[in-house]
Amino acid sequence: MNASGPRCTSYDELKVIAKSASAAIVTKSCTIESREGNPEPRYQNLPLGSIQSMGLPNLGYQAYLAMVPELKALGKPVIVSISGFSIEDNIEMVSAFQNSDVDLIEVNFSCPNIPGKAQVAYDFEQTDRALAALCQLGDKPIGIKLAPYFDMSHFVAMANIIKQYPVKFITCINSIGNTLVIDPHSERPIIKPKGGFGGLCGDYIKPVGLANVRAFRELLGDDVQIIGVGGIKSGTDAFEYLLAGADAVQIATCFEKEGPECFSRIENELKAFMKAKGYNKLTDAKGKLKPL
Ligand code: DOR
Repeated sequence: MNASGPRCTSYDELKVIAKSASAAIVTKSCTIESREGNPEPRYQNLPLGSIQSMGLPNLGYQAYLAMVPELKALGKPVIVSISGFSIEDNIEMVSAFQNSDVDLIEVNFSCPNIPGKAQVAYDFEQTDRALAALCQLGDKPIGIKLAPYFDMSHFVAMANIIKQYPVKFITCINSIGNTLVIDPHSERPIIKPKGGFGGLCGDYIKPVGLANVRAFRELLGDDVQIIGVGGIKSGTDAFEYLLAGADAVQIATCFEKEGPECFSRIENELKAFMKAKGYNKLTDAKGKLKPL
């Protein structure tokens, strides 16, 4: 499926996703009020991915709430992504979507691009408090979009928090936040917001995404579904995430660059790669990374 990110903000964009081979329709992370996002230029392609600091441009959650019946009518599971600036914001939005027809709610704890706002996913105590508040608002499955972690103690700390709540899924990973790409000719950063600091996406981050999926699969067992995201642009990339333990994968940068045809291409490549190996279903490979 698409990742909450590029090409999923307007109804027209979401309709294109519905008509593609994406398994679900995932919305851009929404906030209480609509937002223009950060100043331009805020997205730049790089040879192996992209850097961006979009700043959550979105229509505001009530627009997505009103859109749910139309999105559902397009015939695919609808996953709404929410990204409040406080626990109160997230309570308001999760409560609203609990009373809608969306299939899943993905709470984004990891946007790196709002000046002055820390990523909740790097604040374990706040993550704990937020989950305590959000997981009691209704029966609709809730998942969280996590930042990339780079230390084993952080994987363990986050997994121990997740285990305390009925979190149905985690999405690993958001972009690698606050990276800097410099143009040596102009002697300037290549994006404008935050002095050039932005989220790194695409091929560069695949090994980080794979490690995060693997670590959480080992720590959480099979109780929590894991959606892998980060640098998937081919069937073999998706297969690697499957081996690491992903239940599903999301595609952002490749979708941004290639358009909606990427979903059927990647699915067909994955099928062909697995067939050549004699695997018939996803569970033949899921989590089955072999020791070296
Ligand atoms: O890299 C990201 N960019 N992650 C998010 O969660 C939001 C997005 C943005 O809009 O800046």
